[in-house]
Amino acid sequence: MTQLEMKKIAAQAALKFVQPDTIVGVGSGSTVNCFIEALGSMRDQIKGAVAASKHSEELLRKQGIEVFNANEVSSLDVYIDGADEITPQGYMIKGGGAALTREKIVSSLAKKFICIVDSSKQVDVLGSTFALPVEVIPMARSYVARQLVALGGSPEYRENVVTDNGNVILDVYNFKILEPLKMEHTINNIAGVVTNGIFAQRYANVTIVGTPEGAKILE
Ligand code: A5P
Repeated sequence: MTQLEMKKIAAQAALKFVQPDTIVGVGSGSTVNCFIEALGSMRDQIKGAVAASKHSEELLRKQGIEVFNANEVSSLDVYIDGADEITPQGYMIKGGGAALTREKIVSSLAKKFICIVDSSKQVDVLGSTFALPVEVIPMARSYVARQLVALGGSPEYRENVVTDNGNVILDVYNFKILEPLKMEHTINNIAGVVTNGIFAQRYANVTIVGTPEGAKILE
């Protein structure tokens, strides 16, 4: 079975967490693209969605789903998104698609974070397979990079990428994150950092793993 087929299995299984007459929080990335396609089948049952990227907004509209601005809603029942890495505790690295800041904002509005992944994303320690993305105000790039080196990482500027918020991304390699919550706060305290891709404060409440045997739901 291909990775895409496993993503589709996880995305389809997430539909059962979507309640009628609600506004759904929707993340971004290739797994979420599968989810948006599946959500099209519920377009007449839901009020609409708040999206974490301009690309997801476009896909939702194509499915005939109304898109709300994050400022128009006070809370969401669920937020559904993928991850680059996820631990058994539901801590994640996100931001492979550079949408981490909006993902953190929209997921913070939600009562439950439902994470949809294929099994390649499951790790015991964050940073094992994926570099940590950090969104940075452009003028602070070199300063932030030096601070990340001081924390033990090897930051690399992601060439030719500007986020939906007009900022740049540093990907931090060689960074084993043993205390996700502490590291999330430490990096966010560096002047010039908009946010980093550790999702520990807003961890996943439910993980849905797409496997050849079907969707495994870990709560
Ligand atoms: C986007 O910035 C990311 O946080 C994605 O949610 C994450 O990279 C997972 O993407 P895929 O579903 O494409 O693997």
